[in-house]
Amino acid sequence: MAAFSGEKNVNFSVGGAFPAPRLSESRPPPEKIGAPLPPFETPLVEIGGIFLKLENVNIGGSHKSRSARWIIARAIEDGDLQPGGGQTILEKTGENLGIGLVIEAAKHGIPVELAVGMNFSARKKSLLKRYGAILIGAGMMQKGALPREVVAFHLENQKNMGKSYVFLDQFNNSANLEAHLRETGPEIVRQIKSLRPGTKEVFLVGGVGSGASVSGAGMAVKEAFPDAKVIAVQPEGCDILREVFVEHELQGIAVGVNPKTLQPEIIDRWELCGESEAMDAREWLLKNGGIYAGPSTGANIKIARQIARERPGAIVVTFVYDSGDTYE
Ligand SMILES: Cc1ncc(COP(=O)(O)O)c(C=O)c1O
Repeated sequence: MAAFSGEKNVNFSVGGAFPAPRLSESRPPPEKIGAPLPPFETPLVEIGGIFLKLENVNIGGSHKSRSARWIIARAIEDGDLQPGGGQTILEKTGENLGIGLVIEAAKHGIPVELAVGMNFSARKKSLLKRYGAILIGAGMMQKGALPREVVAFHLENQKNMGKSYVFLDQFNNSANLEAHLRETGPEIVRQIKSLRPGTKEVFLVGGVGSGASVSGAGMAVKEAFPDAKVIAVQPEGCDILREVFVEHELQGIAVGVNPKTLQPEIIDRWELCGESEAMDAREWLLKNGGIYAGPSTGANIKIARQIARERPGAIVVTFVYDSGDTYE
């Protein structure tokens, strides 16, 4: 059994092998993967000299809906999750993956319990509940426990609680990476080829939370464009690879782990972005593209514009992860 539903929290790999294989060598997609609205691709649009992959238009509002769909489909395919089997999905997440999981799990009649940190907004928490998630561990966290401790407690005590939890652990789950290796990345490749036939100089810019989107899409882009460069973005003061973290407002990136789903060998360069620079870039996108994006997207935009200035003529692609609405 690959997914962790037992009592010992060990390092495990869910959904497939690490390091992730090349696109051409990777596992075939799960039979029941489906798509929100097949055939469905999020747009790639050029705004102010950079190319934006509008992941905010996914059902669920972010790129993490893709991760959720793949994670659940793989867990079902591998027999770790059985629809109607009385199990409950357990995860610690701020919002976007949680929303994706609830939407996807509802299709299979599987309940979802989430440990959401104290620092997340009341609006996010109320939204998650409206999507159908059960939020757990508020009492523990008020006394200082971390979301991961809430997850560990629930796993340890699941028998007493009458539960059978499946902890999907996005940071150790290769299906998270696969979603972007097999779906987001190939979409970007097709879209670049159709918007700019003959292009060779391609840059992909993305932040690192689980690292799955920038690594997975980066692998697919590099496979199609061997000279492509992948640029990872992190908040000023952080060094994800060395596990150095500071408090910051760019929710979703640099979340306190150097995750297994990040594939460092795919990253050609790391760039830092300050909070105010990211917020200015969000304003730029609002004024120049009419898109109100979240803070982590602001960091992507700031670095993508910097690279577009450095390399005129290159295609610089980055993600609009989600809308700014839920950060109010
Ligand atoms: C708003 C936002 N930005 C960026 C990220 C980072 O994406 P990834 O986990 O693919 O690195 C996340 C992940 O949850 C997110 O929610």
